[in-house]
Amino acid sequence: MSSGRSERAADNELFGTGRERAIERMFDRVARRYDLLNRLLTFGLDRRWRRRSVRLLGLEAGSLVADLACGTGDFCADLEGAGLDALGVDFSAGMLRHATTSAPLVRADVQRLPLPDGAVEGAVCGFALRNLADLETFLAETARVVRPGGRIALLEVAEPGCAVLRWGHRLYFGRIVPIIGGLLSDRAAYRYLPASVRYLPSPAELATELREAGFGEVEHHVFNGGIAQLLTATRR
Ligand SMILES: C[S@@+](CC[C@H](N)C(=O)[O-])C[C@H]1O[C@@H](n2cnc3c(N)ncnc32)[C@H](O)[C@@H]1O
Repeated sequence: MSSGRSERAADNELFGTGRERAIERMFDRVARRYDLLNRLLTFGLDRRWRRRSVRLLGLEAGSLVADLACGTGDFCADLEGAGLDALGVDFSAGMLRHATTSAPLVRADVQRLPLPDGAVEGAVCGFALRNLADLETFLAETARVVRPGGRIALLEVAEPGCAVLRWGHRLYFGRIVPIIGGLLSDRAAYRYLPASVRYLPSPAELATELREAGFGEVEHHVFNGGIAQLLTATRR
């Protein structure tokens, strides 16, 4: 079992289904200032990463793309900006209420998507993999709803490979982010968000899980010295 997977399994055992409910409530609490904090804490880089992800998705204009765990819909807006049709799915009513996109939004668990098989040409997911209780089920659901030949792009935080950068990043992400988050939003949530990186499998493990779920052409991209990462893949 991968380290991210075993951490997740242990915590799921500890909290039971309560972990999912706690995550939903946490995002309800931070929703009002979520976009502001994202812009501040990443110095606006999160917007660039999403736009780059949409470009690397490489789908034709007019393709239907599901934004899974869409939050306030930033990815939906970028998909639409690139001429794609977006559909957002998230289980936090608070995040959906604060969405600023014109794309249709559905309140649902991304591990049980209310979409028929092969319903979309693509799917994106921004900064949510580490919050999911069951990554394997999520990838299987994503594979089910993306038609063969369709593309996916999974964007997440990462740790720089270079030791000096990693030290600075740990200091910022682990110490400064919770302070700023606590002052402007919710202290517990912004302590959890950096800590939740431990649920993230390594890029190699993620690539294996993607292949097992039915995706090929898996590619790992690193942004800004390794503080963010993107996995792209094609549905077989
Ligand atoms: C860090 S936010 C990311 C939001 C957005 N994708 C972005 O790029 O800013 C994580 C989102 O995942 C959602 N989420 C977590 N687990 C989920 C699940 N099982 N089903 C649906 N949404 C989920 C949360 O409600 C939250 O909106």
